Formats: sequence, structure tokens, C-alpha cells
Amino acid sequence: MDPDVVPHGLSVPSVPNIARAYDAALGGKDNYAVDRVFVERLKGVAPDITVAARTNRQALIRGVRFLAAEAGIRQFLDLGSGLPSAQNTHQVAQRVDPEARIVYVDKDPTVLAYGRALLVENEHTTVVTADLRDPVAVLDSPAVKGLIDFSRPVAVLLVAILHHLEDAEDPAGLVRTYLDAVPAGSYLFITHFCRSFPAADDLEQSFQTMLGSGRFRTREEIGRYFTGLEMVEPGLVPVAQWRPEGPLRRDPTVGERMHIAGIARKP
Ligand SMILES: C[S@@+](CC[C@H](N)C(=O)[O-])C[C@H]1O[C@@H](n2cnc3c(N)ncnc32)[C@H](O)[C@@H]1O
Repeated sequence: MDPDVVPHGLSVPSVPNIARAYDAALGGKDNYAVDRVFVERLKGVAPDITVAARTNRQALIRGVRFLAAEAGIRQFLDLGSGLPSAQNTHQVAQRVDPEARIVYVDKDPTVLAYGRALLVENEHTTVVTADLRDPVAVLDSPAVKGLIDFSRPVAVLLVAILHHLEDAEDPAGLVRTYLDAVPAGSYLFITHFCRSFPAADDLEQSFQTMLGSGRFRTREEIGRYFTGLEMVEPGLVPVAQWRPEGPLRRDPTVGERMHIAGIARKP
């Protein structure tokens, strides 16, 4: 986004938002100066914040590939899906099966605007503008009901989003509600900011002050989201270690372990 081409009547945002800041960290173009400044400020606390975003995104791709190619999942509910990036859930899943169905859900309407352009010829994929904290609105939306068959397994993706919810918003309860809506054989895929390095406190403070959200939870706290499910190997690990494409011959850097990832099956 170029500040000079903001549509008439709209003003250039003066505060960063999650979708655009993440896009900026990924090196995308769908962001404003205020989002890039936010990412630069974060670098002062965690120099490899952009590595964290990229490593998370790569884990998203590997996780979706696993779900489609190995777990046989053909329906994906991608909650907090973000602005389109180089490879998105539908592209990864539909390379395995062109009929795989994907619903992207994001509260940011720009995700819909950009998603529409990308999906214009794809009848098996749709974008819904909704707040995932209102699962009834999400699950009852005509787009979700029209594309997802809730009698067949669904992968529920909550990738790099639950850390933007406060404890008071009951992220664990929301996870349960979405899982209650899908049958046995469905999967849950979560990545989450992890309190796994000394600067996590300072980084959390920066997120809270500048973005208004961002919680670094412990591995134990994040593990509780998977209660009652069967963890898929290698369990809940730093994103760089979740089924990497080649062997990782060293310990993950801060950026590579800022998020941890886990996929689990509903028995
Ligand atoms: C960090 S991005 C992650 C994008 C993608 N899942 C990934 O990991 O590459 C988080 C996304 O969640 C969206 N989001 C934040 N709060 C949300 C909410 N309550 N309901 C739906 N989407 C939300 C933001 O707009 C943003 O696009």
C-alpha cells in the first residue's frame, strides 16, 4: 500500500494493525509506514522479529501440507488467516487435492478485499470477515455453512492468532467451541508466541503498548489448548523444529522459536 494511493475519503492509518504489521514483517507490500515503523521498533527488542514471522509462515505451509497430504484433510477453517502471502492455505491444500475446501476468517476487512482478488476463480475457497471470538457468527455464517460439511473432518487453524487474545477473552474456551463443532478425525493446528527467551517480557510490553495485543504464553499454557487431543509428532515445538524440510543442525534462534507449533487430532 502506498500512502499516496489511499482511496479518496479514507485516511492513512495512524496506528499499526495486526494484519498489516505481520505483512510488513514478512516483507509484503500491503502495509503502511506506521506498520513498518512498528516492526522497526520491535527489532530494537528482538532483532530477528522478521525471522519469527517468516519461520511461522513456513511452518503454516508445512502444517497445511501435512494435514492435506498425510492426514487426508480436505476442509480447512483458517481462523485469523491474515493478508494473502506468497503461499496460502488454499494453494498448499489444493496442490494436494484441487477440490479441498478452505474458508479464511479474519476480522480485518482488507483481508477480504485482497483475498477476493486472489480467489476470484476458486469456487472451493472463500473469505469471511468475522471475529473469531464470536464462534456462533463464524460457524453459522452462510459462507462457512455453504463450503464446510461438518459431518466430515475439518482442520481448524489458529496460526499466530491466539496470542492476540487476552486470557479474559477465554482463548481455551474458544478452541473447545470450534473443536466441538467438528467431528472425530478433525485436527487442530496452533502456533503461538512462546515465553521461551529472556526478551519475551519486553517484547510483550512493546506489543501491548503499540499494537494493543500480544501475549507470550508458556509452553505449558499453550499445551493446554490441546487437552483431550492426540498430538501429532513431533509434538509442541518451536516452529523451526516442526517437521523441518531438512535437519536443523543447531539450536533454533530466538526468531525461530518465538512461536511454537503443534498439530493434534480429535479422537
Ligand atoms: C499474525 S496474523 C497471522 C496470519 C496467518 N494465520 C499466519 O500465521 O501467517 C493474525 C491475523 O489475525 C487477524 N485477527 C486478529 N484478531 C482477530 C479476531 N478476533 N478475529 C479474526 N481475526 C483476527 C488479524 O487481522 C491478522 O490478519
